[in-house]
Amino acid sequence: MKKVLLLGATGYVGSDFSKLLSERFYEVIRIGRSELEGRSISELVDSWGSHAADFLINSAGYTGKPNVDACELDKANCLHGNAVLPGTISKVCQQLGLRWGHVSSGCIFTGRRGDGGGFTELDSPNFSFRQNNCSFYSGTKALGEEILRDDPSCFVWRLRIPFSNLDSPRNYLSKVMRYDTLLEAENSLSYLPEFVSACIDCFSLNAAPGIYNVTNPGAVKTSEVAQMIQNAGLTKKEFRFFETEERFMALAAKTPRSNCVMDSSKALAAGLKLRPIEEVLRESLANWVWESKVSA
Ligand SMILES: NC(=O)c1ccc[n+]([C@@H]2O[C@H](COP(=O)([O-])OP(=O)(O)OC[C@H]3O[C@@H](n4cnc5c(N)ncnc54)[C@H](OP(=O)(O)O)[C@@H]3O)[C@@H](O)[C@H]2O)c1
Repeated sequence: MKKVLLLGATGYVGSDFSKLLSERFYEVIRIGRSELEGRSISELVDSWGSHAADFLINSAGYTGKPNVDACELDKANCLHGNAVLPGTISKVCQQLGLRWGHVSSGCIFTGRRGDGGGFTELDSPNFSFRQNNCSFYSGTKALGEEILRDDPSCFVWRLRIPFSNLDSPRNYLSKVMRYDTLLEAENSLSYLPEFVSACIDCFSLNAAPGIYNVTNPGAVKTSEVAQMIQNAGLTKKEFRFFETEERFMALAAKTPRSNCVMDSSKALAAGLKLRPIEEVLRESLANWVWESKVSA
């Protein structure tokens, strides 16, 4: 049985990793916060090395709840979770010669590439502290990638606005159904079950380490998602939209949001299974499971 060290197993993304790894018969060794805090690199090398794991997955990070605005009020923990912690893991894994993967984010980009396409793994983040145009959360995620840039045995998996068929305050589709007023924007998205499956496949397929945009091919506008929700019969409400992004910023947000289109062709070429975004959105909505029925 192959062994995996998993950080962040209690989180929204980490709990899906934990479940799927177990379903695929990996032995999952969950590393909690208390096993990290106050430990030196050499202590971590000793403790993680004792497990003789096949690889490590880092799904720990600081997202801010209920949304990224919360990161503006807790900057030290956000910086620690998203940039310092990945740097520590990198040092430990390099000393152990352990392959590993880190959950990053597409939120380090805004818009589309200059040529109209989606951002590729070769593009530099354009929504980061270096551009001085970003939220604190996005800045720390870009810093995390910068810290891992020279790690030869690390996968950097860019997740983007996760969703599934399971209603949850963290699910993008649940958010669209429940927000009073929506921001119209075009985005690439990640269907969470395919995201975690693709990340695990990176090890079984022996993919080359490096950055991967693990987003479902394509992009959708918020109004298109709202229309799909109505077509699926999940709500009777008329969706309302902010007139402009400026109105959204003035009324509903404290920090700028990233809205962006990603190119997932590198992930597809590596053999990772990511179906077109419209297909997985329709499937999730058709198989929707309410957490508790809301008056949507
Ligand atoms: N959810 C999204 O929309 C989204 C989108 C793109 C990328 N991501 C990235 O995906 C990763 C996971 O996000 P998530 O949504 O699953 O977040 P989450 O539900 O808030 O879970 C975060 C996990 O990380 C752990 N953690 C946080 N700070 C830590 C620290 N300093 N040391 C050790 N463990 C720490 C938490 O442990 P405790 O239980 O002890 O708090 C928890 O297990 C993050 O890196 C995030 O940036 C998320």
